[in-house]
Amino acid sequence: MDTTLRDGEQVPGARLNAEEKIIIARQLNKLNVDCIEAGFSASSLGDFNSVMQIAKEFSKGGPVITALARAVKGDIDAVYNSVKYAHRPLIHIVLGSSGIHVKKKFNKSIDEVINMGVESVKYAKSLINNVQYSTEDASRTDFDTLWKTIEAVIKAGATIVNIPDTVGYAVPEEFGEIIKKINYRMKNINPDVLLSVHCHNDLGMATVNTLTAVKNGADRIECTINGIGERAGNASLEEVVMAIKARSEFYQAQTGIVTKELRNISTLVSRLMGLSVQVNKAIVGDNAFAHSSGIHQDGLLKSRDVYEIIRPEEVGLNDMEIVLTARSGKHALTDVVSTFGFDIKNEEINSKLYKEFLKFADEKKEIYYNELYEFLKNFVDSLPEKMEIVNYKLYTIKKVQSFIDREYPSTAIEIVKDGVNYIDSAIGKDVIDSVANSIGRIVGNDYKLVDYNIFSMRGKTKVSMKIKYKDKYIHSRASEENFVLSVANCFINGVNKCIIEEKSNYGIEQKIV
Ligand code: KIV
Ligand code: ZN
Repeated sequence: MDTTLRDGEQVPGARLNAEEKIIIARQLNKLNVDCIEAGFSASSLGDFNSVMQIAKEFSKGGPVITALARAVKGDIDAVYNSVKYAHRPLIHIVLGSSGIHVKKKFNKSIDEVINMGVESVKYAKSLINNVQYSTEDASRTDFDTLWKTIEAVIKAGATIVNIPDTVGYAVPEEFGEIIKKINYRMKNINPDVLLSVHCHNDLGMATVNTLTAVKNGADRIECTINGIGERAGNASLEEVVMAIKARSEFYQAQTGIVTKELRNISTLVSRLMGLSVQVNKAIVGDNAFAHSSGIHQDGLLKSRDVYEIIRPEEVGLNDMEIVLTARSGKHALTDVVSTFGFDIKNEEINSKLYKEFLKFADEKKEIYYNELYEFLKNFVDSLPEKMEIVNYKLYTIKKVQSFIDREYPSTAIEIVKDGVNYIDSAIGKDVIDSVANSIGRIVGNDYKLVDYNIFSMRGKTKVSMKIKYKDKYIHSRASEENFVLSVANCFINGVNKCIIEEKSNYGIEQKIV
């Protein structure tokens, strides 16, 4: 179950409008999640309406659609009235079960709280057959009370029992034992009731706790894209899914997730919610498949499985990325240089080039395509001309759209190639789009910006992009003090890479001086 649109949307500042929620819901359907938690219907009219629109979107098929309700009639009615349009609706009820919640939040006895839970499940069941019950703060609930609650709500008709580690307090061994015991007992009462888990990341253990639960019998996982969610977030969907895929024999489990959609949805959620993904984030981080150490690059170029446990293509990336740095080895340099058409078989030339490269790379953090080009130009005389951004200007254009005047960014770009200057400009929905559109008008519209990431690093804007050219994808990077120039250089680096790679075999060896 994906709860990006409910728990994920609880991240401060990440609120989405209905249109954006539907876009994400469609992408979640493409990812083939079994269930989408679309919101908290009783919290606002806006939430109610977006849950309803998502339910209507999946009225003829698709994933189960649910929304969250507290154990009160008003909330349950709101969920029912918003999810009932879905082909497969589900009511999700949450109620605290731990001593802390029972005493401090409700000021009731545990029996009174269990009774509230039972009555709410019975009421929900009178509306819809599928009812999920979450024992909030389960990991801090004493086991006998937890089991008493579970037994009572199953008897009342719950079809899914969810065990949340609401405050991220669980540790894998302990959580695994709890799940094992619950699973054993639940399967004895009613094997059709699903056992679900919902882990938070306060101690950085959401993924491992979720996986340990799977190993111990959990049937279902609740998680979010990019691990977003309340406080430190939830178990990250891409991490648990890929761990189960990569180690399916160990976990004896599988998911139906279309993993090649993972990168796309990660980018979409990050963009729409304005929450950047950390560069080293497992599976979807910008560096998750980028190799910079010389030892690793050498190993990978000999055989991918030396340092690769997941093929980047499995998660929707084109390929691994070799990032040239001062730590890169000769093997990596030769490999990247070969894309310029060089085939350096002469070991002496190779060593000389590598020595010079190390001197050059030492002053830099990483080498971008334009810099590598400039470096190689010192050693050869027949490098194909590259395109170079020589000037740019960003301005805004006012467009009248029905009753509303809207301002759009527009960028004028000047490029020089083979001594000729080309200038064009285009608007875009944002600055990046307008830069890509203007360059596209000069170099041809075959180059499509698919995905990008932007970071600020020591006063510079570092940009990385995925560009589609015909049927292949190219990764490119750039870093400049100026934001627009950084974006433009990144795009042109990708274009140059395509053009130069297409002109191969220059027989350059003897021309290296
Ligand atoms: O963290 C939590 O306990 C929840 C429940 C609603 C499942 O989000
Ligand atoms: Zn939660």
